[in-house]
Amino acid sequence: MRNINDLPRIPLGLFPTPFYKLEVISARYGKNIWIKRDDLCGVALGGNKVRKLEFLLADAKNQGCDTVFTTGGAQSNHAMLTAACAARAGMKCILLLKKRGVTEHRGNLVLNDIYGADVRFVDTDSYDDIYAEMHRIGGELAGRGHKAYEIPVGGSNPLGAVGYVSCVREFTIQALAAGIRVGHIVSATGSGGTSAGLLLGAKLFQPGVKVTGIGVDDDPFDRIVPDLAAGAAEILNCAFTREADDFRSVCRMGDGYAIPNPADTPYIHELARTEGILLDPVYTGKAWAGMLELLKEGYFDGEDDLVFVHTGGAPALFAIDLP
Ligand SMILES: Cc1ncc(COP(=O)(O)O)c(C=O)c1O
Repeated sequence: MRNINDLPRIPLGLFPTPFYKLEVISARYGKNIWIKRDDLCGVALGGNKVRKLEFLLADAKNQGCDTVFTTGGAQSNHAMLTAACAARAGMKCILLLKKRGVTEHRGNLVLNDIYGADVRFVDTDSYDDIYAEMHRIGGELAGRGHKAYEIPVGGSNPLGAVGYVSCVREFTIQALAAGIRVGHIVSATGSGGTSAGLLLGAKLFQPGVKVTGIGVDDDPFDRIVPDLAAGAAEILNCAFTREADDFRSVCRMGDGYAIPNPADTPYIHELARTEGILLDPVYTGKAWAGMLELLKEGYFDGEDDLVFVHTGGAPALFAIDLP
């Protein structure tokens, strides 16, 4: 197996992020629940994309690129963090955002401007249209002597997923230091790269530990996540074998992607009012509420401690009201 430390990587975040037990919530729900605070990773308002971008932007630089492209919804956290990380890496950033959702100058759109990104809206529901536009602009830039690197939506390709293999390695050490045994890892799933990295990381560093991704849209994550994990395993030159129940995707999209679920609001309030932690209504609020409802149904019964990976998303709180 290739050592993750040997892969090209630009240090962008402040790692390790904190890992600790949620004392009040654990007592209230009768289960030891730990949190991995990737919302506190030191770039912008934090979030899961920074770990992916450390590898993706290193690849971009190694290919001689001076510009990065990416895409997402109007309020994409991934796009905003790409703008932030590209700025840190000294690269120009062009964001082609779907003209869908909250397109007013709020939330992540404010931050994109602060980070100096070139933001362009594309009036389409299809990422294929957006990638075609990226190729077109990339061609124009090439004519002017620039080289652009395309990062897919969510930074979810096998190289991006390696960022979350590295996250599991990081909290495996933290869990050992705390003297605990992890039974199950839960996080939000939007494009699949985070869950894929967690799945492969669990196999490598925490054998037997299960991963559940709470889906915030209705993509077929049962297929997407293992495929991305297999791609990440190729990069790391290690084996990846799918086993029954090693990964499950549970959909909590509700009425649609980026449409908050009213049922999540009490859970969002509870975590804020007990542990002081903010969740957003698009990703982490859905994932956290979904996890606690699964817990109440007995989904994690008989297993060791639960780890919730907090993937960020706070800017949405300033663009989308909680119902
Ligand atoms: C805050 C937050 N959490 C979770 C996710 C989902 O991660 P992934 O796209 O790797 O599935 C995203 C993706 O944009 C996100 O912004």
